[in-house]
Amino acid sequence: MSDLLAKYKRFTVTAALPYANGPLHIGHIAGAYLPADIYVRYLRLRKKEVVFICGSDEHGAAITIRAKKEGVSPKEIIDKYHVLMRDTFDKFGISFDIYHRTSDEIHHHTAQDFFLKLNSQNEFEVKESEQYYDEEYGQFLADRYIQGTCPNCGNEKAYGDQCEKCGSTLNPTDLINPVSTLSHRKPVLRTTKHWYLPLDKYQKWLEEWILGTKQEEWKVNVFGQCKSWLQGGLLPRAMTRDLDWGVDVPLEEGKGKKIYVWLDAPIGYISATKQLFEELSTQQPKFSNPDLLNAQFPPFINPQANDWEKFWKKQENPEEEACLLHFIGKDNIVFHCIIFPAILKAHGEYILPENVPGNEFLNLEGDKISTSRNWAVWVHEFLQDFPEKRDILRYVLCAILPETKDSEFTWADFKQRNDSELNAIFSNFIHRVLTLTYKNYQGVVPNVVGETDEMLKSAFREIYESVNKIHENIEQFRFREALFEFINIARIGNRYLTETEPWKLLKTNPEEAQKVLFASLQIVAKLTILARVFLPDTAEKLTEMLNLSEEDIAWENLHFKAVTLKPNHIIKEPTPLFTNIDPELINMEIEKLHKSKAENQPQEETLEPVVVPPQKEFTTFDDFQKMDIRIARILEASYVPKSDKLLQFVVDTGIDKRTIVSGVAEHFKPEELVGKQVLVLLNLPPRKIRGVESQGMILYAGDHTGRLHVIHPETDGVNEGASVN
Ligand code: MF3
Ligand code: ZN
Repeated sequence: MSDLLAKYKRFTVTAALPYANGPLHIGHIAGAYLPADIYVRYLRLRKKEVVFICGSDEHGAAITIRAKKEGVSPKEIIDKYHVLMRDTFDKFGISFDIYHRTSDEIHHHTAQDFFLKLNSQNEFEVKESEQYYDEEYGQFLADRYIQGTCPNCGNEKAYGDQCEKCGSTLNPTDLINPVSTLSHRKPVLRTTKHWYLPLDKYQKWLEEWILGTKQEEWKVNVFGQCKSWLQGGLLPRAMTRDLDWGVDVPLEEGKGKKIYVWLDAPIGYISATKQLFEELSTQQPKFSNPDLLNAQFPPFINPQANDWEKFWKKQENPEEEACLLHFIGKDNIVFHCIIFPAILKAHGEYILPENVPGNEFLNLEGDKISTSRNWAVWVHEFLQDFPEKRDILRYVLCAILPETKDSEFTWADFKQRNDSELNAIFSNFIHRVLTLTYKNYQGVVPNVVGETDEMLKSAFREIYESVNKIHENIEQFRFREALFEFINIARIGNRYLTETEPWKLLKTNPEEAQKVLFASLQIVAKLTILARVFLPDTAEKLTEMLNLSEEDIAWENLHFKAVTLKPNHIIKEPTPLFTNIDPELINMEIEKLHKSKAENQPQEETLEPVVVPPQKEFTTFDDFQKMDIRIARILEASYVPKSDKLLQFVVDTGIDKRTIVSGVAEHFKPEELVGKQVLVLLNLPPRKIRGVESQGMILYAGDHTGRLHVIHPETDGVNEGASVN
């Protein structure tokens, strides 16, 4: 494992640009923004040069669909949510150096320059094809916006890319009686031209780069997703779209077309960094943090407009090169690990991401977080309901981050962790030490005479071990464990107080009491320094109470020999840092959650109305009996090479182990399904799909939004091969 802090002096840290189409919930925060913020705060404490980049992603269907829903223009949507999200991040203490937006002019230029550069290097393949066009809406239709009858099975609700009944992969032009889901009219065919990035040409290089060098470095969940994509084989991808909202394709032949949002958005990181240094060099903060104007540390001392290049471009002297890190949620992994690196590589002048720490999803009270069902804890509402308590939410979210698998937030756990960890361990230790000092020595740090004893030495050695583990864990993007070690230091402090009982020593052995309190105060100082990383408000309060200066908040002061609070230094009157949370408040939050869910139940975030297909013609009992449907278990799952749509499975049917192909790659990640029991129609005659023989069919339930779900037995313990009838 490489030690990034040892290797690099300069860091470019990005957090996924959220679509400006709705408020932020705790799932967003736990996915990318909190881990990124902790990492950046750590880098700052270690005196690294770092820029922390984010902003609104304001193009693409996510925005236009929202606008259509609210009956307003896309511009109104982005203006409203950009401000709300920016302010929420700020109030929650996510310490971006800039919160930019992709509708800004500098971004349009940057994205267009990038596109032109790739075009001039012949990195695109330009291809013409006939695509469906909705004359009433005056736009080309994405595959998913077209429905019609499947030529294979007669399903009338097949989509332009796939029939979800029979699983066959389709082109929109295969559909019988195609209909636009926008106007509900018949679309017409028009010839259109698009610019494709030939990802297949990068396959080999990506394999060498990711599979060859990143297995040890990248998180298993991230690496695993990349691997299955690469194994499936990469295909050319269109980097332009026929849309009217987005960045214009800067070519005469591309008039009226837009740059694909997934090319435009990551370039937004670069535009934001340019904008940051532009603002710093002209001393006119607009999107950047105004405090940076007074910052006394690099790269904010004497900043120049072109300093952004140091954070993005390859440097002659490799020691000057920046470490690029993208913090994202799991739905963005492929774009940041495969597509954007291929784009950067194609350009040629840019560095590649050193790591892409992607998180899984956070669930809430036993259910998936859902914006449309209002099943969420909204960050701006939390900040209102719990004023001045953002450190508690930071703490709890950090403790449960979905680092390698999905995790869950519950209000009961929120209270529990506050009461029994932040209050009972952390706050309790600090408060005892500070009040003993304040009351008995009038806040003057005592002088110590004599030798340190073994008990003290071992406590300090243990603390230093925890400090080192914090470093190692943060290096590996394991923030949960790092936080555990942080609290562990307070735990060691509490144990030391219990063992020494300074409140008794004050009467029986005043010299010994001085020694114990002097040592305990140094532990409090260490916690203060580390709180900078995990609990920023608490760190500030403690710095104030301990009367420390900015220079005292240094990594070096975590060394076991370091003395931060020197004899005769005077501390201020302490107040408790955390107290137990009123259970009433928790009950109110739970009620609010359930109430809003009930109110929002009927609505679903979907373009299609809920359509339940009518009953089919009668079949016969005999015909039904002919079907051999069984319980089987999926043993292996992978993408079918060179197909975006197909997955191939090895299933245990109880009778044998066989291969089945389904057109469900857009609904499931192969790894999601491994180990699951499913229903299989065994006696469907084998047929070859893309060169793979499929022996049977897995059955799925398709809901009204078009999403597929596997069906499994309600209870465990149903054996493979059990028949369904
Ligand atoms: N807006 C996208 C999302 O919310 C993420 C974009 S990340 C970027 O899923 F790299 F493209 F900016
Ligand atoms: Zn079909």
